[in-house]
Amino acid sequence: MEHPEIISKDPKSFRIKPNLASYDEAAASPQWDSVKSELKWFDGGGINYAYNAIDRHLGTPVESKTALLWEGDRGDTASFTFGDLARLSNQYANFLTGLGVKKGDRVFLFLPRIPVLYCAFLGTLKTGAVAGLLFSAFQETALFDRLENSGASVLFTTTELSSRISKVRDKLPNLKHIVTVNSPDFVSAISRQPDSYACVRTVPDDYAFMLYTSGTTGKPKGVVHAHRGAVQAYLTARWVLDLHPDDIYWCTADPGWVTGIVYGILAPWMLGITMVVHAGRFDPDTWYGLLEKYHVTVWYTAPTAIRMLMAKGTEPLKTRNLSSLRYLASVGEPLNPEAIRWGVKAFGMPFHDTWWQTETGSIMMANYPTLPIKIGSMGKPFPGITAGIIEDDGSAVADGKEGNLAFKPGWPSMMATVWQNQKKYDSYFTAGWYVSGDRAWRDSDGYYWFVGRSDDVIKTSGERVGPFEVESALVEHPEVAEAGVIGKPDQVRGEIIKAFVVLKNPMKFQKPEDSAKLTEELQVFVKKNLAGHAYPREIEFIDRLPKTRSGKIMRRILKAKEMGQPIGDTSTLEEY
Ligand code: WT7
Repeated sequence: MEHPEIISKDPKSFRIKPNLASYDEAAASPQWDSVKSELKWFDGGGINYAYNAIDRHLGTPVESKTALLWEGDRGDTASFTFGDLARLSNQYANFLTGLGVKKGDRVFLFLPRIPVLYCAFLGTLKTGAVAGLLFSAFQETALFDRLENSGASVLFTTTELSSRISKVRDKLPNLKHIVTVNSPDFVSAISRQPDSYACVRTVPDDYAFMLYTSGTTGKPKGVVHAHRGAVQAYLTARWVLDLHPDDIYWCTADPGWVTGIVYGILAPWMLGITMVVHAGRFDPDTWYGLLEKYHVTVWYTAPTAIRMLMAKGTEPLKTRNLSSLRYLASVGEPLNPEAIRWGVKAFGMPFHDTWWQTETGSIMMANYPTLPIKIGSMGKPFPGITAGIIEDDGSAVADGKEGNLAFKPGWPSMMATVWQNQKKYDSYFTAGWYVSGDRAWRDSDGYYWFVGRSDDVIKTSGERVGPFEVESALVEHPEVAEAGVIGKPDQVRGEIIKAFVVLKNPMKFQKPEDSAKLTEELQVFVKKNLAGHAYPREIEFIDRLPKTRSGKIMRRILKAKEMGQPIGDTSTLEEY
């Protein structure tokens, strides 16, 4: 791109002085140590994420400030101060201690975005246990894989969601307690717990939370984050999201994903910021209503949501007063130039793209309030982070040329481990670099441009889905012999999941109405067994799948075929 469109920043237009005055100055000096003194460290150098998010504010003016403005899907509301959350999370910590939970144990949360989720999460972290988050769209197989692999001993859920694991419970010997948070027994049990608790003195490398995430092959892996990540979560929220004490902040991500945990719970509360949480579904009018009603000032959302709003045009905005908004940011998938231009038209300001991953634990690359935006670029590395574009062997790629997006290990929020899978953890590193799995290039001004994934990982509506999980779910169906799954580019969702399916008895489904019926049946099957968001929106029945001689499905060939592109090197391909 020779002449990218640039949005320059006029300092006079800032309603509030940006926290990061000069990117270049910050990038030229070491960062992490200077911010450490702003967090609360235990004697001897310990640190706890939840203590810093909540308890640290006790006895300061923040204690009585609103931490959470919650709105349910039927318009019901609740609000909690930092002091309320301190007491409530203490009750959860005491409850867990009563169950015998100890530091290092895994406590999983399978909950909708209700206030209990926030209290149980913080309470778990205070005990030193590792909190595992399960997105509420998960179904039996996805739940079983994660609970089994983690060896979780406690699961917080609701009576409605708990039915999804009733069939597999017997196969989870480590899962001693399934706590249904809306049962009368639990409600009375939790209210009887003392509301004071001495937070366990975790050390920086102690595990805090874990999230399962998909790669190209195999089951999802448990990416584990340590309490030391607090340093980077804190500083990125301040410099990238530009959070100031009087902000009303809304992060639209669900805590079942890393954005919803780090920037939807921990980082804003470490900064003592009031946060909006909406437990309902995406709906343009509801979303605009929330921005208006709560006077949201800083909004962190995702490209698919922005494109869905864009599809409705600016008409719904005419009746809204969104003048409180002052800063917009986005994450999770490429933020296309149209979406940025539309943001400027609709809200009078651009969305600022940010880049990171479950594994990196915090924002790694971003656009900043004071830095000009080159539309379509992910921006520049966060000050203190060393990024690079490298060849597969670790050697440097020249500016302007595509390569692997990589980082020098050692940033504070880097994952601590992949749960019981040292081999997988080691596989992220090459020649002293952490290799992200993304392809990108850097221009001569130091801006980074996203190209795509280097593997078969699918990003649909910003959610990461491993093709193998979907293929495995499909082959469980009695009519399916084999399946190959790819991400197919989509205007709104970034990608949709497309499955190529080989049937056991193709003759049975020759008639279009029969194959249409089977398509629907397979979609429902995946939704019910794996997850509501991970089903193939398109299914094509084919005679056979392209495979390597060793029998691996070659998804890149399926993709090339789908896109009408040349098939490329087929030297490892079995006769096709
Ligand atoms: C993958 C990580 C932690 C954020 C939520 C996603 C893609 C993320 C961008 C961006 C283009 C992006 C990458 C990355 N991605 N941000 N700004 N532009 N692509 O975390 O689910 O672990 O996914 O999302 O491919 O590797 P995740």
